[in-house]
Amino acid sequence: MTKITAAITAVGKYVPEYVLTNKELESYVETNDEWITSRTGIKERRILKGEGLGTSFMAIKASEDLIKKSNIDPKEIDLVIVATATPDLPIASTAAYVATEIGATNAFGYDLQAACSSFLYGMSTASAYIASGRYKKVLLIGADKMSSIIDYSDRATCIIFGDGAGAVLFEPNNEGLGLQDEYLRSDGIGRDFLRIEAGGSQMPTTAETVANKKHFVYQEGKTVFKYAVSNMADVAEKMLTRNNLTEPDIQWLVAHQANKRIIEATAKRVGVPAEKVMINIHKYGNTTSATLPLLLADYESQLKKGDNLIFAAFGGGFTWGAAYLKWGYNS
Ligand code: UT7
Repeated sequence: MTKITAAITAVGKYVPEYVLTNKELESYVETNDEWITSRTGIKERRILKGEGLGTSFMAIKASEDLIKKSNIDPKEIDLVIVATATPDLPIASTAAYVATEIGATNAFGYDLQAACSSFLYGMSTASAYIASGRYKKVLLIGADKMSSIIDYSDRATCIIFGDGAGAVLFEPNNEGLGLQDEYLRSDGIGRDFLRIEAGGSQMPTTAETVANKKHFVYQEGKTVFKYAVSNMADVAEKMLTRNNLTEPDIQWLVAHQANKRIIEATAKRVGVPAEKVMINIHKYGNTTSATLPLLLADYESQLKKGDNLIFAAFGGGFTWGAAYLKWGYNS
């Protein structure tokens, strides 16, 4: 019997219209375009404006883009996973709502949270469902409305993050395409350095937590940077050595877009030249769970069936990992 692999067969994306430039940020905090560009590679990010619009709004739009482009019937979707750190509501799965709104009425849906590694972990989950033979169409969406949890008077975080969503469809493949290998890690020491302190079970919301700005993202940037550089590079390198791959075998490095310097360090370690490194951080900043699928959507026209892609991500928790995937189609 041929082994079933899980291939990506379609992608879709959505970014909000509003462009928050480095120039505009200069009017909120003591910063400047030169500092932001040289330290992060970010020029602008997208912000979702509009009362009552949450992460599901962008997840639905990205899914609709995928459905329209691929011509699939949403009723055939078995499972909808929304990888997100910013669900619409603390209780009530965002994915269940998204599934209903896109007409995936035969699907079940749930959210997956692993900060900036949510989508990478989601690729593992979606692929495992497909490889098990139990499900045929799994829609994995990475979506985050980071602007809902950012303090725009904190220059250490507000310059980095943006909003967006990307969606991919996983389907069974019998040509050996799709996810080949993965190496996923976590380390709980990380929660001291990147977190939202209040609003969870450990520190429920009070007037005091709100007054003390405990519901915004806190990041000790330097420490996170150090861990991100060494860990992302380590796991990406492991994907190559474990699969006997060398630079000519790799067509694309698909790395989480947190900081251009972290992406470059990862590329250097695995020996991949700049032209093989997907990059869109200059346009969107760090969209947390959406960075990887947004890259796939932006580079879709350049991807060819059978291309070898190395994914790598690092985020709060800490959570991190890498994956090796063979691209599933020509667009
Ligand atoms: O996606 C999840 C994982 N997250 C990451 O991977 C992010 C990792 N961290 C980073 O990307 C970087 O640490 C940052 C971009 C957040 C910060 O860059 P950095 O090069 O680590 O800067 P720093 O925090 O070491 O600050 C250097 C200097 C400081 O001034 P002094 O003490 O040297 O006088 C800061 O106060 O830059 C100052 N600074 C700023 N200056 C202008 C910090 N933020 C800003 C700012 N504009 N926005």
